Amino acid sequence: MKNIIVTGGAGFIGSNFVRYILKENQNVRIINVDKLTYAGNLENLKGLEENPRYVFEKVDICDKEEIKRVMKVYDVDTIINFAAESHVDRSIEDPTEFINTNIKGAQTLLDVAKKMWIIGEDKYKEGAKYIQVSTDEVYGSLEKDEECFTEKTPLNPHSPYSASKASADMLVKAYYDTYKFPVCITRCSNNYGPYQFPEKFIPLIMNNCLKHKSIPVYGDGSNIRDWLYVEDHCEAIYKVLLNGKLGEVYNIGGHNERTNIQIVKKIINYLHDNMDNTINEDLITYVKDRKGHDKRYGINPEQITKELDWTPKTQFEDGIVKTIKWYLENQEWLENIVNGEYEKYYNKMYKM
Ligand code: NAD
Ligand code: TYD
Repeated sequence: MKNIIVTGGAGFIGSNFVRYILKENQNVRIINVDKLTYAGNLENLKGLEENPRYVFEKVDICDKEEIKRVMKVYDVDTIINFAAESHVDRSIEDPTEFINTNIKGAQTLLDVAKKMWIIGEDKYKEGAKYIQVSTDEVYGSLEKDEECFTEKTPLNPHSPYSASKASADMLVKAYYDTYKFPVCITRCSNNYGPYQFPEKFIPLIMNNCLKHKSIPVYGDGSNIRDWLYVEDHCEAIYKVLLNGKLGEVYNIGGHNERTNIQIVKKIINYLHDNMDNTINEDLITYVKDRKGHDKRYGINPEQITKELDWTPKTQFEDGIVKTIKWYLENQEWLENIVNGEYEKYYNKMYKM
């Protein structure tokens, strides 16, 4: 039995990954290490409480002693670090927590694991592995007709969020280069799917449509993101866990670039045609652009496709419909979030 710490397992991608791996592999125990910030939600893991191969530990990844304890108690041999402050807009308001969790937290995990896994000079416990879940945003922004990001693209982050993620990536690489500590880094494009916190674009559009509230589109809506269905991201990380080469970076993306305005119209039109014909494009409101707004992200996933035989299974047209339906069927989940602190955040951010 492998004992795997998944940090940030109560967030969007982490919770999808916990479900995915428990189903995929009967031979793993998952220890979900999550501080439960505003973005962490145990409702995302409903139904797993009784699973004997799943444990939850409410722990901050910056807390060295607690990480030590958890690693010892569960004889951990793998860490997959999803935990992060993840929202660009919040990082623009105040980068402090981004530096703490995304950089210091990663360094704490690396340091504790290195000390606990070492068995000789540059030798670590059999099967030990640390995976840093990173983002394509560390590469910066592409022009419209520029080639997509490869693993060799220089890091050039622009937001405090992406700068903190890039810093963590550099530290992870330094642990490999200096100590031969067993690591892989994954850099994925924008995810969408169930359990995404509604401060992010797609669930925000859903929530506003359902309430007939205007949909804030930054700038002229022409910024481009490369969207990947979250389960495909989970599968890619699982493949990196099984067969990813130590010291490697793997870009993960779905060849699925869309402008923001295309995404908004897609969701509005689906809801208009299938649910409520009073939801229409009049809801679209162009608002002041995000500071330093990256123009375009696009991933070249050739390396993971060749080396680990990964390709995304979900076409955007199917994934977006599945996602819309999930939010429609889980309006209580959405309400439980948007009725609390989130409302204050939204009103402040969008000056309501
Ligand atoms: P999220 O904000 O939904 O979840 C983050 C989780 O981390 C929450 O459960 C939160 O409670 C937990 N957390 C935060 N600080 C913590 C701390 N100090 N100690 C322990 N737990 C803490 O984020 P997400 O969208 O699921 O992203 C997960 C990871 O994937 C992040 O590292 C992010 O940078 C990366 N990523 C996200 C996307 C995307 O589109 N969402 C794309 C590429 C990469
Ligand atoms: P987001 O989901 O915050 O992800 P990221 O900034 O990490 O890519 O935003 C996706 C895109 O949508 C991004 O170009 C910013 C834009 N956006 C809006 O136009 N309006 C909004 O209210 C939000 C949250 C995002």
